[in-house]
Amino acid sequence: METCDTLKRERNNSSDMVKVAPSMLSSDFSKLGQELVRVEEAGADWAHLDVMDGAFVPNITFGAPVVKAIRPCSGIVFDVHLMIQDPIRYVKDFADAGADYITVHTEAEGDIEGALRRIRELGKHPGISLNPDTPVESIERYLALVDQVLVMTVQPGFGGQKFRDNGPSKIAAIRKMISASGRDILISVDGGINRETGKMCVDAGADVLVAGSYLFRFEDMAPEIALWKQW
Ligand code: DX5
Ligand code: ZN
Repeated sequence: METCDTLKRERNNSSDMVKVAPSMLSSDFSKLGQELVRVEEAGADWAHLDVMDGAFVPNITFGAPVVKAIRPCSGIVFDVHLMIQDPIRYVKDFADAGADYITVHTEAEGDIEGALRRIRELGKHPGISLNPDTPVESIERYLALVDQVLVMTVQPGFGGQKFRDNGPSKIAAIRKMISASGRDILISVDGGINRETGKMCVDAGADVLVAGSYLFRFEDMAPEIALWKQW
């Protein structure tokens, strides 16, 4: 996967510009590989891949075999969002399948700290996510272990929901916690992101905007992505 590694290095070193991560949940699953190419060519930094288990959230999407199948289609960074219980069971499968970032939920059952350590041992970037009603303090204990905090601004499980207004203040609070930690950690925001809510989140301190239904409504999402990256 030399192409993928090269792309990732260039992007990580390029600047501290806002990163845009289209959520493939809103793409056409019948041609997922082509959809990846489409978002990469539109200038997206990462492809956000939502894994749901029908237990942590009501829906089921796809697992590691699908991630592995689409990995050769594109060199784009794979940002895998695990909405699953007891995630430590599956982190190796997703690492082997070609994930770059693997994020687990603080609310999930099981050994979350162990899952984050395992992701790091596997040479991938660990992330911790929290739901809209989960207080920011719940992730503080994981900051020493992660490269990304994924702030949910909708209840996980479905695309196309309305942005929760407490998102920006949570992002600002997490930004302060990260500064105090002295670590270099990206803040991503996921759920109900559009031109208006995305700008609010960037102003509050978000680094990565995850967006599904809003971006995929554009036949050509390149101008929208370019606009967001300038914020
Ligand atoms: C929701 C997922 C999101 C979802 C966002 O559980 O984690 O990534 O795709 O979709 P929109 O942008 O439509 O809210
Ligand atoms: Zn997601």
